[in-house]
Amino acid sequence: MRIGVLCSGGDSPGMNAAIRGAVLRGVDVHGFEIVGFMDGWRGFHDGEYIPLDRLAVRGLSPRGGVVIGTSRVPPFPGGLGTPEALRAVADRLADYGLDGLLLIGGNGTQTVARMLSDAGIRVIGLPKTIDNDLGGTDYTFGFDTAVSIAAEAIDRLRTTGESHRRCMVLEVMGRDAGWIALHAGMAGGAQVTLVPEFPETIEQIAAWVLSVRDRGRSSLVVVAEGFRLAGAELGAPEHQVTREGRDGFGRPRLGGVAEVLAPLIEERTGVETRATVLGHVQRGGSPTAFDRVLATRTGIAAADAVERAEWGSMAGLRGDTIEMVPLAAAVGALKTVPEARYAEVRRNFG
Ligand code: F6P
Repeated sequence: MRIGVLCSGGDSPGMNAAIRGAVLRGVDVHGFEIVGFMDGWRGFHDGEYIPLDRLAVRGLSPRGGVVIGTSRVPPFPGGLGTPEALRAVADRLADYGLDGLLLIGGNGTQTVARMLSDAGIRVIGLPKTIDNDLGGTDYTFGFDTAVSIAAEAIDRLRTTGESHRRCMVLEVMGRDAGWIALHAGMAGGAQVTLVPEFPETIEQIAAWVLSVRDRGRSSLVVVAEGFRLAGAELGAPEHQVTREGRDGFGRPRLGGVAEVLAPLIEERTGVETRATVLGHVQRGGSPTAFDRVLATRTGIAAADAVERAEWGSMAGLRGDTIEMVPLAAAVGALKTVPEARYAEVRRNFG
C-alpha cells in the first residue's frame, strides 16, 4: 500500500505529530509506504513529494508548524470539483502510484476530501484547525494550543491594563466560530467576550466596560476576528472587519476588529482603551501536550483506517475515543458556538 499525505489550509499546532503518528503506525506496523506532498496541493500538482519513514518523523511531536508545509493552493486548478478536475486528481494519484490520500485540514479541506471520496478517490481526513469549527469531532488539534497562547496573552494584558486603569481589547482568530475567544476568555476571566455568532451593539459593550470601571476594575475584552458589531458603527453595517486582499481560498482576509472597537469604546466610556491583535502568534510554536496526544492518536487512527479500507471517513474525537466518522457528517455544517455556551458567559459580562 502506498499512501500520500497532504496538508492544506492554515497550519495548526500538532500537524507534525499527526504525520508522525500516521507514519509510525502506517509504515512500521502496517508496512505501508508513505510520501508527503510539499506545501499542500502545490506539491501534488508539481509532483514534489518526499518519502516519510521513521527517520523522517524523528522528534516531530513537539515541533510547531509542519515540516512538509501547507498552503491554500486550490486542489482543482480547473474549477471546483468539476468531473474533469476530479478525474485529473485521480489520474495524478495513479501516476504517483498511490493507493490513497491522507488529507490533513480544516473544513475547506475536508469538504474537498468529501468531493474526492464521492468521485471514488480513496481519502481519509485528519481534522486540524485552531478554529475548532469542524463538525464530526469534539476538538480539532491546534485549538488547545491557540487557546493556551490566547489565555496567556490575556493574563499579560490584564496586569498592564490594570496598572494604567485601561480597557484592553484582545483580538484572537476565529473566522466564523468564536471558540478560541470563548475558551481563552473564560480561562483568563475576561469581562467581555465577543464572538462572530452573536453580534452585540457598541452601546451594550460600552455599558459592560463602564460597569467594570464602576466597581474599580479594568476591562479585558476578547474579540474574535470575525465578530460583527450589531448596528452601523463599523461603517459597513454588520460586516466583518477585513484587511486588504484575499487568501488562497478566495476568502477576505480578516483582522483589525479590535482596532476598530477600541476607539469606539473609548469614545463612549471615556476609559482609555488599547487594542492588541494576537494574529499568527496563536498558531506558532510548540503544540500543547493535549494537542500532541490528540494529533498522534488521529494519525494512528487514520493509518489503521487505511488498513481496514475505511475510505471516505475522518478520524474524529468523540469523548475519549478516536472514531472514524463519514466525511459527509463532518463537513455538513460548521461547528459554531451554540447559544447556550455563549449565554453561559454572557450573564457575567461587565
Ligand atoms: O482557519 C484558521 C485561521 O487561523 C483563521 O482563524 C484565520 O482567519 C486564518 O486562518 C488566517 O490565515 P492566514 O492569515 O494564515 O491566511
